[in-house]
Amino acid sequence: MKRLAIIGAGGHGKVVADCAGLLGWDSISFFDAAWNDKLSDSRWPLLGDTSTFLKKSSEFDGVLIAIGNCEFRWIEFSKIKNLTTSVITLKHPNAFVSQYSKLGDGTVVLAGSVVNTDAVIGDACIINVGSTVDHDCLVGNSVHIAPGAHISGGVTIGDGSWIGVGSAIKQGVRIGKNVMVGAGAVVLSDIPDNSTVVGNPARAVT
Ligand SMILES: CC(C)(COP(=O)(O)OP(=O)(O)OC[C@H]1O[C@@H](n2cnc3c(N)ncnc32)[C@H](O)[C@@H]1OP(=O)(O)O)[C@@H](O)C(=O)NCCC(=O)NCCS
Repeated sequence: MKRLAIIGAGGHGKVVADCAGLLGWDSISFFDAAWNDKLSDSRWPLLGDTSTFLKKSSEFDGVLIAIGNCEFRWIEFSKIKNLTTSVITLKHPNAFVSQYSKLGDGTVVLAGSVVNTDAVIGDACIINVGSTVDHDCLVGNSVHIAPGAHISGGVTIGDGSWIGVGSAIKQGVRIGKNVMVGAGAVVLSDIPDNSTVVGNPARAVT
């Protein structure tokens, strides 16, 4: 029996649990800060919040944070990263992850996505469904590449940035920390830290 704890029982958590089941995790339990307001479903029990998990951590073989928001994901990740329970990395069986790429602890690579040659991805990242991170990209910690976003070769993305659904990033661009790239944006030039950009070509939201 392989026992996995997932912190974050929302839609993304459900997708992560589904993926983990395919990869042989046969006992999956959720923990969530809002656990009082959420019901366990018939597939996966909801046992409490993160502090409940911390008390029970020795009962699990692996743990993952499954929260879409980059800031909250990183806060929860910092609570679990030094436990003896392994913080696992998940690769969906229908994702391509190059043998020459690197994935940090707690990172998930979901169905239909690609992490290509010599890409380096940090801890607690989400490479969401149908997205691509091409060769030589350098992706920081707690970055979320949303569904269908395409990151061309040699792009750098700073910690905590969220690359919106269906966006496209030109090769070699440098995206700072805590940047939000809007849905469908086309990013052609560097983006400074702590900014939000939208549109084609992407421009700062004022
Ligand atoms: C960019 C984003 C964060 C802005 O959200 P916000 O701060 O709440 O901003 P608002 O919705 O108030 O929009 C501000 C302005 O930007 C425009 N805008 C917002 N998002 C836009 C987008 N993706 N493309 C083009 N214009 C956009 C709005 O129309 C509005 O314009 P206006 O001032 O002329 O009316 C958000 O719209 C977005 O695209 N989020 C990404 C969602 C995503 O990828 N989800 C994936 C889930 S896994």
